[in-house]
Amino acid sequence: MNVVFLAPSYPPEMQQYTRGLAEVGANVFGVGDSPKGALPSTLKPYLHDYLQVPRIMDEADVMKRVSGWLRGKRIDRVIANWEPLVILAARLRERFGLPGMTVDQVTGFRDKMVMKDRVKAAGLRVPYAFKVKTQREIREAAEKIGFPLILKPISGAGSADTYKVSSKSELEAAIAAMRHVEVVSCEEFIEGEEFTYDTVCIGGKPAYENVAAYLPKPLIARSNEWLSPVIITVRDLEQPKLKPGLVLGRKVLKALEMGDGFTHMEWFLTPKGEAVFGEIGCRPGGAHLVDQMNYTGDIDLFREWARVACWRSFEAPTKRKFNAGIIFKRAIGEGRITRITGLKDYLRRFGDHVVEEQLLRPGTMRRNWKQTLLSDGHLMVRHPNWDQAYEMSFAAATDVTLYAGG
Ligand SMILES: Nc1ncnc2c1ncn2[C@@H]1O[C@H](COP(=O)(O)OP(=O)(O)OP(=O)(O)O)[C@@H](O)[C@H]1O
Ligand SMILES: [Mg+2]
Repeated sequence: MNVVFLAPSYPPEMQQYTRGLAEVGANVFGVGDSPKGALPSTLKPYLHDYLQVPRIMDEADVMKRVSGWLRGKRIDRVIANWEPLVILAARLRERFGLPGMTVDQVTGFRDKMVMKDRVKAAGLRVPYAFKVKTQREIREAAEKIGFPLILKPISGAGSADTYKVSSKSELEAAIAAMRHVEVVSCEEFIEGEEFTYDTVCIGGKPAYENVAAYLPKPLIARSNEWLSPVIITVRDLEQPKLKPGLVLGRKVLKALEMGDGFTHMEWFLTPKGEAVFGEIGCRPGGAHLVDQMNYTGDIDLFREWARVACWRSFEAPTKRKFNAGIIFKRAIGEGRITRITGLKDYLRRFGDHVVEEQLLRPGTMRRNWKQTLLSDGHLMVRHPNWDQAYEMSFAAATDVTLYAGG
């Protein structure tokens, strides 16, 4: 089994997928823009070969170089698990005549408008939305939708340039702030809670399913530096509350013709109990979500995903043992982390349930919290009981503090 994997060292969790591929018996042909000499030594044993390209985002150039590199070699799969590379992987598959999702199918997971159209055409509930380009079009769409509404870029990520608009004056302010955004989606604001629906699929059928709760919703988490975003996987997927989301998720996979591999969907649960589609990718969630899922069931999804990708078989138990909560911390102040308070007490209280503590240490430069949910590090806790997992997560949010600056 010869597998081309884009890109094995970045983002860092890709190293785990590379390991998984090697562990299920694949020869991994890595392609990336990191220099060969700079690849982590822990990654090298899992790589069969590696091609360094100058610009991994330059699709035409990568296609050309990879084709030349692979001439005369038999290749069985081309795979990417990072959002910006999923289309490129599909293009390479089409060029080499390999199995896997087509460019058109992957586009349904990549282009938010195509995505919504296809999900809506399948009779599923999506936010009422218009794709708009000019200021006049935004105002017209707002008139039709009414307040509150959401304005966001069609090709957005990380909630960048996303605004909740509740009045005419807020609309004008958002229009001004979004002047540089070319194509905007103007949508009905969906009230309610927000969750993920994650899977590992074989031929579009989930071999593994997960739901995680966003606490608070990503837009709020990414607009307020002072808070510590919490995400908790839900152990009990059988509870009636989540049923509409699971049903929606499975239908979305069908509507978008999912093939083999990870999916990561976001959905809303309205106060009336209705599930509304948010967005979906045909790749795993980032920000340690896969680690969280692994802690939820004591499994190794990096390897199980690889088994699916290579051999179309999933062998890990799907029994869920824990609610696993991750708490992202943001330091108070700028520059270098100077100290951490409350951690010792926290660990004294909850240490038995803490599975990871990766807060940035004093002396380290702060990360840009707007650019990465990882912020200044995280704690991960788990407990079979939801209320306890919730309490421990929020205790970490409120009782542990990082400081930065001088
Ligand atoms: N129609 C909507 N109604 C309510 N909230 C919304 C709506 N659209 C977006 N949001 C909020 O904005 C966040 C970001 O939107 P979305 O997920 O579509 O874009 P993104 O920038 O790709 O996100 P990500 O943070 O996942 O990269 C959502 O998680 C949600 O909290
Ligand atoms: Mg999103």
